[in-house]
Amino acid sequence: MPLRVHITTFGCQMNKLDSELLANELLDRGFQLCQTPDRADVVIFNTCSVRQHAENRVLTCLGRLADSKARKDGLITALIGCMAQRQGHELLEQFPALDIVCAPGELHQLSQLIGKARAGVGQQIAVTDRLRARRNIPPELEDLDVRHRPDQAANQAQAYVRVMRGCDKFCSYCIVPSVRGPEISRSPENILAELRNLVADGCIEITLLGQTVNSYCCLHAGREVSFAELLRTLGTTPGLKRLRFVTSYPRDFSDDIFHAMADVPTICPYLHIPAQSGSDSILAAMKRSYTAAEYLALIERGRTIVPDLSVAGDFIVGFPGETEDDFQDTVRLVKAVGYKNCFIFKYSPRPGTAAARKLPDDVPTTIKRRRNNELLAVQEEISLDLHRTFIGRTVEILVEGLSKTARKADSEHPHQLTGRTRGDHIVVFDAPSQAGQLTGKLVNVIIRDASALTLFGELPMPNPRQ
Ligand code: SAH
Ligand code: SF4
Ligand code: F3S
Repeated sequence: MPLRVHITTFGCQMNKLDSELLANELLDRGFQLCQTPDRADVVIFNTCSVRQHAENRVLTCLGRLADSKARKDGLITALIGCMAQRQGHELLEQFPALDIVCAPGELHQLSQLIGKARAGVGQQIAVTDRLRARRNIPPELEDLDVRHRPDQAANQAQAYVRVMRGCDKFCSYCIVPSVRGPEISRSPENILAELRNLVADGCIEITLLGQTVNSYCCLHAGREVSFAELLRTLGTTPGLKRLRFVTSYPRDFSDDIFHAMADVPTICPYLHIPAQSGSDSILAAMKRSYTAAEYLALIERGRTIVPDLSVAGDFIVGFPGETEDDFQDTVRLVKAVGYKNCFIFKYSPRPGTAAARKLPDDVPTTIKRRRNNELLAVQEEISLDLHRTFIGRTVEILVEGLSKTARKADSEHPHQLTGRTRGDHIVVFDAPSQAGQLTGKLVNVIIRDASALTLFGELPMPNPRQ
């Protein structure tokens, strides 16, 4: 009887990709995947350390492991992801019911660790020593990416492909460089081989991943391959319909990338490019290495080069020392950019980061919350105005599946599907009879209505002459 594995994933797209690669690897090694943790023989938590809130959610799960083990004889429990690298040893001590800790840089070892834990030789741990000194990706780890196949459980038309690991930017608030290690770009050949295999298996949309994806730079055959060049190469893969990339780092964004986006039809006119703040003094304290004016100028250049460029952002409110004036600078930047959507976070001090060491977390929680809500409200208005300009237009969407937020799910609208435009706008539409067949397909939809979060559309009437 094969062992059943359940993986719970927290955190960013990197973690989603790692969970998927791990699932593939475990399947290859004879494990079975199961959709609920209750029936699993091995439960794995893929964790995130970016904010305290993210860690707290995992700690709650870890607190329940002893009960789960008492209910199921032989249950193996594992913690992977960024918390594993950050505090793996402490967690093993604190939670005796945890059998395995395995950091992102050691993921290729996990199946072996499961074997050892099952053999009853005690708690197992693999975290990367001197992670920041790592210069190369271990071949077995790289191999997990190279062997990437479309997710059996999800929409097989879409996949993530990592182009680089780690981050060297050291924004003063951020834990990522210390848990994900230095920036290491993957070889263009391996990326291309992975992408071609995914496309051959039916993927039509690929999202390239990197913490600062546009910083990609790989020495290949004696010369440097830039991100713009990589985009141009990948974008012309036969069968690929859409190519996206996240997350962009403003300072390293060269116009070559905009030109590649304008020239290569598969590259979607979409950027996720966090500004983090609109105040120059806060940006300096965050060590973001650009000013609000430089950021805005970059977005404006992008909009002149790439038609219909759609932009998403991240902001942190309540960073140490953020005054009401600083916050109003952020509000002004949000309005000036006209984002499609923004992710807004309350500052959370992360142990060991420069900000946590040097700057007191002096903005009270109530003010953080108020600024968060105020910025959300500003963005909501912008999103709604922008979405309303879509009404009456026909857009191409890639159908992702049944809508979770069926707006008017009733007997008249039995199947509401959801998909995304090339600019990453979410579209919900009625598909009375062909719901299943449309998932993973590109379809044209006429937009009839809009909310701040969603566009609502319908399929065009079939043309009677066809
Ligand atoms: N590599 C990406 C994303 C990093 S983490 C980038 O550089 O843009 C995702 C987002 O979490 C960041 O963009 C930032 O807005 C937020 N974030 C990171 N550290 C944080 C902290 N200590 N407190 C609050 N938000 C944080
Ligand atoms: Fe964190 Fe900054 Fe690196 Fe993004 S660029 S992962 S925010 S250090
Ligand atoms: Fe979280 Fe690690 Fe991603 S800290 S945001 S899971 S890189």
